[in-house]
Amino acid sequence: MRLLALLSAAALAPLSGYAAPASDTLLPYIEARGENLCNQYKSPPQLCTPNATVTVEETAVRAYKFYKAFVVDGDARTMFSLIDNAYIQHHPGYANGPQAIWSLFCNGKPAGTASNSAWCFDVSTNMSYARYGVTDRWKWVGGCVHEHWDQGETIPTAKCVKLNTTSITL
Ligand SMILES: *[C@@H]1O[C@H](CO)[C@@H](O)[C@H](O)[C@H]1NC(C)=O
Ligand SMILES: *[C@@H]1O[C@H](CO)[C@@H](O)[C@H](O)[C@H]1NC(C)=O
Ligand SMILES: *[C@@H]1O[C@H](CO)[C@@H](O)[C@H](O)[C@H]1NC(C)=O
Repeated sequence: MRLLALLSAAALAPLSGYAAPASDTLLPYIEARGENLCNQYKSPPQLCTPNATVTVEETAVRAYKFYKAFVVDGDARTMFSLIDNAYIQHHPGYANGPQAIWSLFCNGKPAGTASNSAWCFDVSTNMSYARYGVTDRWKWVGGCVHEHWDQGETIPTAKCVKLNTTSITL
């Protein structure tokens, strides 16, 4: 975990009297900001192809990766690779389809942090949730994000899956 070591060193730097480098090379890691893809891509570079044989367990892992990419990492490439081309949008003022929201997320700015957010996948409904101030809900179909709501949502308290974290590549 070289990145983790880097983060710890950066976080402890002021306490240990370590002189920060003059360059901004550590800044992207400290801010956990992802790559800015807005100039390179005017629409998502890769979307999710629905696959009816993807299991609920696989979907739960994908849902965690989606949350991490969106909320923690600002990784729009991974985030949109898990959204299908139909993507039904219930947020007023936005059209259906991932293309309609690409410009909101392509800049690499994460929606929150690991410590100020929460995540859930409910295997009984194939819905995933992320809370980072507001709460989003997504329906997964064929292993892809297919539908989105973000008004009056709350994370279910009892039905969130427990992932086997040793089998997830973070
Ligand atoms: C569909 O998903 C299954 C289960 O993950 C996988 O084995 C298969 O290769 C996938 N098919 C395609 C075309 O990606
Ligand atoms: C959830 O998705 C799985 C396949 O990914 C499917 O077998 C199951 O019926 C779905 N459950 C609901 C409630 O839609
Ligand atoms: C978690 O995943 C690892 C690696 O795939 C596996 O060896 C282990 O048995 C799993 N644990 C549980 C509780 O499913």
